[in-house]
Amino acid sequence: MVSVETLEVAMHSRFRSLRTLAAVLLLAAPAAVVAAGPATPASADSRAATLVPTPPMGFNDWNAFGCEVDEELIRETADKMVASGLAASGYEYVNIDDCWSQKSRDADGRLVPDPVKFPNGIAGVADYIHGKGLKLGIYGDAGTLTCAGYPGSLGHEELDARTWAEWGVDYLKYDNCNNQSDGSQADYIRRYTAMRQALDRAGRPIVYSICEWGSSRPWEWARGVGDLWRTTGDISDNWESLRSIIAQNAPLYPYAGPGHWNDPDMLEIGNGGMTDTEYRTHMSTWAMMAAPLIIGTDLRTASAQTLAILGNRDIIAIDQDPLGRQATVVSDRDGLMVLDKPLRSCRAASRPG
Ligand code: GLA
Repeated sequence: MVSVETLEVAMHSRFRSLRTLAAVLLLAAPAAVVAAGPATPASADSRAATLVPTPPMGFNDWNAFGCEVDEELIRETADKMVASGLAASGYEYVNIDDCWSQKSRDADGRLVPDPVKFPNGIAGVADYIHGKGLKLGIYGDAGTLTCAGYPGSLGHEELDARTWAEWGVDYLKYDNCNNQSDGSQADYIRRYTAMRQALDRAGRPIVYSICEWGSSRPWEWARGVGDLWRTTGDISDNWESLRSIIAQNAPLYPYAGPGHWNDPDMLEIGNGGMTDTEYRTHMSTWAMMAAPLIIGTDLRTASAQTLAILGNRDIIAIDQDPLGRQATVVSDRDGLMVLDKPLRSCRAASRPG
């Protein structure tokens, strides 16, 4: 009997003008063994593994809306995630990005949601999202100000982590603007570990998404600190950006696994700057790289084609395979990259009687 053991994606960049990517199912060959990533304390790893045993899936408003986030958008997005079947396909987190707070902290030093954008506060939105069976994400920054100029959490880690936990937040994206850093890896470790420890003390399970754009090579140190870490600068809605991010993120496969994922940034699928073929490539390569699948388009107005790409259960199953391996780069030369992702579920399914 022949079993499906690997899925291989080949990308011909020399056909760049055609903008093509071919995904090929290979039969039979045993899966490659991927080198283990750096060792980490068992307790930290098992905590993370229980929160994100497979790459997180959800939505974030930044790619489509920038600073134009509000409660209505978040609620309506959650409604659409459920009504469209995307929630049933695994999309779970509804994440608020930058620009959700007031420009100043209150008299007690707490972050304050913008009352015009969030009349029911973040806690009110969290209640709504939880009522739909989904989870809520928030955004913070390991600096004095966020990238858009709102209060950052550097030096306020304990209070901010406690505040988010009290509001019922389930996911934190923690950015790196205005970081006052000397640029050393030690400084990055210190700033991001301070929030790790604050989240632990706050006592609520919160997925911790480190967003320092790969600056300090977080794949070398962030396992056991964050549950996922950005490996690149910001994605843009064009093919060159996609190609460059794949080239940077694909070789980092030894560092990914259950509870510690490489994050090549959020999806641009549906935002209009690429063709549907390119968006399918985006989805497929993210799945091969065991990347977080964080939707970045306006789901309320998304086309049927966009919803079909995002909701493709076969591709999602590759991303979410419980073995949790990021595809090995089998070869990368002359503009041809071959990726090989071992899957647990296909192995189980093909086991003889
Ligand atoms: C940085 C991040 C983006 C987004 C913006 C918000 O650029 O990398 O993903 O969160 O900040 O200002």
